[in-house]
Amino acid sequence: MSVKPIRMGTLKDVAQFKNHLASLGLSIPIDSQLEHEDSSPLRQPLVKGPFKIANRIAVQPMEGWDGLLDGNPSENTIRRWQRFGASGAKLIWGGEAVAVSHDGRANPNQLLAAPYTEAGLARLRQALIDEHKRKTGSQDGLLIGLQLTHSGRYSRPNSHSRPEPKILYRHPFLDRRLNLNNDYPLLTDAEIEVIIDNFHRVAVMASRLGFDFVDIKHCHGYLGHEFLSARTREGRYGGSFENRTRFLKEIVQGIHALAPGLQIGVRLSVFDSIPFYPDPKQSLNGKLGPGIPEIWDNAPYYYGFGVDPGNPTEADWSEPLAFLSLLEKLGIHLVNLTAGSPYYNPHIQRPALYPPSDGYLPPEDPLVGVARQMEATRHLKQKFPNLIFVGSAYSYLQDFLPNVAQAAVREGWVDSAGLGRMVLSYPEILWDAVEGKPIQRKFICRTFSDCTTAPRKGLPSGCYPLDDHYKHSELGERLITLKKG
Ligand SMILES: Cc1cc2nc3c(=O)[nH]c(=O)nc-3n(C[C@H](O)[C@H](O)[C@H](O)COP(=O)(O)O)c2cc1C
Ligand code: SF4
Repeated sequence: MSVKPIRMGTLKDVAQFKNHLASLGLSIPIDSQLEHEDSSPLRQPLVKGPFKIANRIAVQPMEGWDGLLDGNPSENTIRRWQRFGASGAKLIWGGEAVAVSHDGRANPNQLLAAPYTEAGLARLRQALIDEHKRKTGSQDGLLIGLQLTHSGRYSRPNSHSRPEPKILYRHPFLDRRLNLNNDYPLLTDAEIEVIIDNFHRVAVMASRLGFDFVDIKHCHGYLGHEFLSARTREGRYGGSFENRTRFLKEIVQGIHALAPGLQIGVRLSVFDSIPFYPDPKQSLNGKLGPGIPEIWDNAPYYYGFGVDPGNPTEADWSEPLAFLSLLEKLGIHLVNLTAGSPYYNPHIQRPALYPPSDGYLPPEDPLVGVARQMEATRHLKQKFPNLIFVGSAYSYLQDFLPNVAQAAVREGWVDSAGLGRMVLSYPEILWDAVEGKPIQRKFICRTFSDCTTAPRKGLPSGCYPLDDHYKHSELGERLITLKKG
């Protein structure tokens, strides 16, 4: 079924937005008035255990596909991190995915943590801090993490057009999408141990560079996330929940031993769904059709984490709850909740009006996707009050993002509102809201998805429609040509 979502920009005020939510049967908290300065919930410090974070605004990790081939940051990467700093957010969740080894890079331009990139990573962190101080006057209460990743199934270290997947088990749909035969090799336990050592090495480096925490990425279909659904894998790292979480546990034990002062966070795709694809019957004249789920027979579906095996488009909370309990036991208190994957169900992961080039038209109003992630965070925050939760998928809220973020923090749905795409187009949106400055509508992310389409076409990511740095550049011209072709 094709849906025609109402454009958020046409809703004139909070009352209209509330009516729209009611017409969709959704419950999302929203404040009619924005509070300012110290009265704003978004400016309340977040103090828990060892953490003193000076406000409730977080920048989500946002990769730019713009590092140098050796894994060092480029000038575009540095500019992006400066903008993260200028956002006024006091929690920088990882900056972006940084690969722990060359073979685990998601593209040849992904940042890599290696001895010869150490100075480059230090420069990124410092550029962010300098810009943050310039904007806010102080770096007090600023917490900066580095997101560590191995891209697993989505590794493309040497060429944008040549996948070099590292897989843990045979997946009935995702193997086919990557043209992998039944004899395609699985990562061996010995290879996994080398990857774990790499996480340790890089965590020590991050600690030396002054990062406050590292995120052991467990989301979006990359390696950490794939472990959680490796039910059909044999051996120490597959099968039981105990075995599927061994990768995380061994990384954490090593970090505690080798970099004792370093905090650890986990970004988790807390629920998932069977992969979607554009409905071929409605994909006409080169236009993508609406997304539909892959067809699965009545057998239990064991290939997703937080997925109901009996109804694989729905979530099952039993293992996500067990995973969060495990994090508490491991002494991890920083949790960033996201969902799904940009590769096989982007409407779950980053609700958008316009699909990326490898996506599909929204199968539901994108507000449903926003509400789904917000509700999951609310539910889990209630169950785990001692964990610090960062929430995701706020950008589709567009003009109403500040009012919703304020209400969500005030009502305790989430500890910190994390912004992804909106930071690419308008980094200071929540800072402006808190300061009582007018919101600059011309920079509001309208979820055009060019920041995803560009890398799918081998270009750096960025906000091509709204950020002059990309729009009026040679890159912008190239993207227009590639989209036409
Ligand atoms: C261009 C782009 C790059 C991204 N890079 C990362 C990344 O490196 N690590 C990560 O965990 N998520 C990444 N994400 C996902 C975002 O952090 C975020 O979860 C998603 O965009 C939904 O939040 P939003 O609605 O605020 O955009 C990326 C998203 C986009 C659009
Ligand atoms: S390209 Fe810009 S407007 Fe489009 S989704 Fe990305 S950040 Fe938003």
